[in-house]
Amino acid sequence: MAEPAEPNRRLPEGTIVDGRYQVLGPLARSGAAEVFRAQDRNLRRDVAMKLFCPSGSGSPRDRAEREAQLLARLNNPGVPAIYDVGAHDGLPYLVMQLVPGRPLPQLLAAEPIDGATIAMLGARVAGVLAHVHSRQVVHGDLRAANVVVGAAGAAWLLGFGKARLYDGAGGSEFAADVGTLGLLLSGCLEDQAIPGGAVRPLQRVLRDLTRPNPASRPDAGRCARLLVEAAARCSARDRRASRPVAPTGEKLARP
Ligand SMILES: Nc1ncnc2c1ncn2[C@@H]1O[C@H](COP(=O)(O)OP(=O)(O)OP(=O)(O)O)[C@@H](O)[C@H]1O
Ligand SMILES: [Mg+2]
Repeated sequence: MAEPAEPNRRLPEGTIVDGRYQVLGPLARSGAAEVFRAQDRNLRRDVAMKLFCPSGSGSPRDRAEREAQLLARLNNPGVPAIYDVGAHDGLPYLVMQLVPGRPLPQLLAAEPIDGATIAMLGARVAGVLAHVHSRQVVHGDLRAANVVVGAAGAAWLLGFGKARLYDGAGGSEFAADVGTLGLLLSGCLEDQAIPGGAVRPLQRVLRDLTRPNPASRPDAGRCARLLVEAAARCSARDRRASRPVAPTGEKLARP
């Protein structure tokens, strides 16, 4: 999992990569990669640059190539678009659309969120996952750190480093993604839901997503619809709970 970047990073601010990308600063780092904000000087736009570092799990070049090729299969507003691949000082990098938001763990640490908001966030991620699955890609690593949340509840799915092409064996890999999404949302609920907020409709859907038998879990598209419905039910319950109760006898007192 990526952590906030520390100062001794591989690409100091101001570095120009391939005569084109000017590093503006760090975004995050993990054992296997460092992610930077950079400016594409040709197209005059900010981008995200992910630099692959040597780590225990395969050569950086193979990992970068695989992630780039899987991202290139996808075309969805909830997945950063891949713009370029290259190498700097022998280390491969990807250039991607810069996603304007905060990683979910940061958001959760900053403020408690209610059941309806968690359900809507889940619905958005499930919608993105439905697209990913429709392109025969298994994400394989649905963790809070791989979800970025933007303004007005926009959500992006990142972290395709463990993604792979579906091997055609019965769909259980897709169901595993659905199960992990269920666990991710259950974690948000346990730690972060506003105490007393209405969460039961969401809990019911999460039980479906995490059923022990993967074959009986809904697919990602259906998850998205179930979560939208759960969000509406959680909101309705919250509204009912907060509606002021008319004092007894009020009607009788009216003229
Ligand atoms: N396109 C992007 N726009 C903005 N921030 C990004 C982008 N890509 C990555 N990041 C930031 O960098 C962090 C790490 O990225 P990513 O999850 O791709 O790498 P990783 O955790 O090292 O690898 P992986 O999750 O694939 O095993 C993200 O959690 C996010 O904070
Ligand atoms: Mg990640």
